[in-house]
Order: sequence, then C-alpha cells, then structure tokens
Amino acid sequence: MSALGCGSTSSSGVSTDAPQTQPEDGPILPSTPYNYANPEIPAHFLVETEGMHGQLPLMDSDNTPAHNPITDAGATLGRVLFYDVNMSANRTVSCASCHIQEKGFSDDRVLSLGFEDGETGRHSMGLTNARFYLEGRFFWDQRAATLEEQVLMPFQDPVEMGMTLAGLEARAAEASYYPKLFEAAFGDPQISTERMSLALAQFVRSMISTQSKYDTGRAMVARRSDDFPNFSESENHGKFLFVAGPGRGGFGCFVCHQGEGFVAQSAASNGLDATTESDLGYGAVTELAQDDGTFKVPSLRNVALRAPYMHDGRFATLEDVVAHYSDGVQPSPNLGPPFFPNGDGVSQIAMTQQEKDAMVDFLLTLTDDALITDPKFSDPFTEL
Ligand code: HEC
Ligand code: HEC
Repeated sequence: MSALGCGSTSSSGVSTDAPQTQPEDGPILPSTPYNYANPEIPAHFLVETEGMHGQLPLMDSDNTPAHNPITDAGATLGRVLFYDVNMSANRTVSCASCHIQEKGFSDDRVLSLGFEDGETGRHSMGLTNARFYLEGRFFWDQRAATLEEQVLMPFQDPVEMGMTLAGLEARAAEASYYPKLFEAAFGDPQISTERMSLALAQFVRSMISTQSKYDTGRAMVARRSDDFPNFSESENHGKFLFVAGPGRGGFGCFVCHQGEGFVAQSAASNGLDATTESDLGYGAVTELAQDDGTFKVPSLRNVALRAPYMHDGRFATLEDVVAHYSDGVQPSPNLGPPFFPNGDGVSQIAMTQQEKDAMVDFLLTLTDDALITDPKFSDPFTEL
C-alpha cells in the first residue's frame, strides 16, 4: 500500500502534497439554494398499493429520522461533500465517482474502483429512492443500520476513499468554502463529521424519483393494475406480469419489489445461487441462518440506467436478469416467495419470449430523466 493508503497515512489521514483536481475557488452554487426540503409528491405516493401483501403507501416507508429532516442548506452541504474529491486520501475520488447521476447514481463497472484503483467487494448501488425503505438499512448486506451511519463508511473504507474521520475534518477545515456551508446548514461554522453525516444523508434522501413514464401513467388511472393510457401494449403487459401473482398469470415480482417505490420491506433471496458460499449477504451481519444468502432488494426505479445487475454485477443486461427469473432461479436455502420450491426445489416461472420482452419494456418505464438531469443533483465543481 502506498503512503496514501488508509493503513499507512499520518494520524490525520491528510496528504498535503497531492494534486488538486478541482477549482480552488470551490463549488458554484445558486444564490438561493435549490429546493430539496419540499419536493412535489405525486398522489400515488400516498395511497396503499392494492395487493395481498399489505404494501405500504410509499410515503409511509420514509426512513428519514426525526432528528435529521431535509433542509435546503443541509442538502446543499451534502451535495458539495458528495462531489468533493478532496475528501479522498489522494484527492482523486468522490462519492460521485461510483454514484454517477446519469447512471441512476450507480456506475457501469462490475466492481467499482477506489482511490488507488483497488476494486470494491461488491457492485455499486443506485441511490434513487434510498429514502423509501422503512427498515432503513443500507448496503447489499444491510450492514449499515441507518443512512447517517452509512454515509461516513465509504470515506473510511481502505479501498474506496482511504480517509480517517479526523482527516475528513482537517480537509474540510482547509477548504475556504466549507465554513459558510456548515453555518448555513447548522447555524454556526463548526466542522464535524457528525454534521457531514447528517448533511450527506439529507442529500441522498432528496434523490427521489417522481417523474418517470410510470409516474405519468400512474397519475392517469385510479388503480395501478389498470392499463396506463401512456403505455404501449407491451409495457402494459409487462406491468401486468410484474404486479399480478402467479395464480393470476403473472410472475409476482411485486412480492419483493413492492408498491410505488418497487422496494421490499426486508432483505430477500431471489435464488441467484444454490449455495451461500460466495456471499452470505445479510446472514453475515445477523449471524442468523434464516438471513444467509439474502440481500437488500434494490428499488427498481432507474434500474435501466445502472447495468450491470445484482450485488456482484453478474448480469450485464435487463434481458439477462429476466432470463434468470424465467429459467435460472436456484434452490437457494432462503429463497423467497413466490419462488416456492417445487419438485426439484427450483421455481418454474418460465416466460415466453414475448413475456420477457414485455417485462423489460415495463422496467424501462421506471427511468426518470428529470432526476438524472436535475442540476440540483449535479457536480457543483464543474460549470454547467
Ligand atoms: C469506490 C466506489 C465508491 C465510492 C467512492 C462510494 N461508494 Fe457508495 N457504494 C459503493 C459500493 C460498491 C456499494 C455497495 C457495497 C456493498 O453493499 O457492500 C455502495 C453502496 C452505497 C450506499 C447503499 C445504498 C443502499 O441502498 O443500501 C449508499 C447510500 C452509498 N454507497 C453512498 C455513498 C456515499 C455518500 C459516498 C461518499 C461518502 C459513497 N457512497 C462513496 C461504491 C462506492
Ligand atoms: C423473493 C424476492 C424477489 C422477487 C419475487 C423478485 N425479486 Fe428482483 N431482486 C430481489 C433481490 C433480493 C435482488 C438483489 C439480489 C442480489 O443482488 O443479490 C433483486 C434484484 C433485481 C434486479 C436488479 C436490480 C439491480 O439494481 O441490480 C432486477 C432488475 C429485478 N430484481 C427484477 C425483478 C423482476 C422482473 C421480478 C419478477 C420476475 C423480480 N425481480 C422478482 C428479490 C426479488
């Protein structure tokens, strides 16, 4: 490991001789902060989605804690921290290196590259709708109990950013632009990693998707099982297959990808592997056999933007993902419903080619161009 690695830096974790790759005068921010605190919430986020699993209205699955509501100034500070490469040991990597706005805040690598080009242990995750997951745990294996806890972990990861908490505070203190951002967010200019955690969590929670083709269609009908007038026949067919249970000729995807956010209420196994040897997932965190091989069920919003797929990035395309559900589900020890083992222990939901195409067409309607081009989530260190 070089002198800039996490294990061998000075106690502050700061290297002062590293190149500065961002403008010295700091981020370019609007004089009136962007609106993060009060986004427009579509009416369908407030209703319980019909179905047999008591699916929550999306707004009821909000994991925002009472002590950290989103404020415009807080999320603005979070945005600057998110894009600031000075917050990695050798000033080359920011959160946005692996969470790219155009890619639904994920990246297109199987494994991401950290500050010294080391590979991460798993595939990067999209951040769209991170706010809507009531269990509020983060990472594929759900090892972070809250988002506030999660956001400080990449900084300290020896592969990702290679910093210490003391080093982070020192880096923020040496940059001219932070004291006023902390003051706007928290009332005084004091810099602390606790405040960084609050601000970053606010910024990430503000990345909600409300303007996909799906949302436009959903707003035009009373029940989401109704055909959407703005959908093609194939998109509506895919939606039916997604939201109908196996007993009704569908594939029950909604059992895990629930409600209007397409996110579960707990970790699950979708039968990627017959054994849990390669990755115990949540089971390694809880040490309970019932959690072995289960992983966080990612929200499917903006899924089309963030190939490759799954915790290990094993599937290159959505077609590959759908083929897995159709033909490849393995008898994993904790395989979730609706994949009830039958006979050989593997669920059989074999889809026709037309059904596979329809499913992919439906997944594409969850892309939200407004979110991925919204300047309030863009890099403030580059001019638009
Ligand atoms: C070097 C690449 C890299 C960097 C830099 C990075 N991340 Fe990540 N991020 C990942 C990977 C990979 C995962 C999934 C890791 C896992 O689950 O084990 C992840 C997961 C997450 C998650 C969990 C999402 C969920 O739904 O559970 C959040 C939130 C997140 N990162 C935010 C951040 C923030 C904030 C920063 C900057 C402080 C950051 N990341 C920096 C690669 C990166
Ligand atoms: C038993 C719960 C369950 C069911 C049912 C289910 N999924 Fe999943 N899905 C998951 C889990 C868990 C993951 C993440 C698995 C991993 O990476 O280990 C996932 C991942 C995905 C991904 C990749 C997301 C990403 O960001 O990498 C897509 C796309 C997807 N599912 C679509 C579907 C479709 C389409 C159906 C219906 C045919 C379906 N799912 C049914 C649990 C489920």
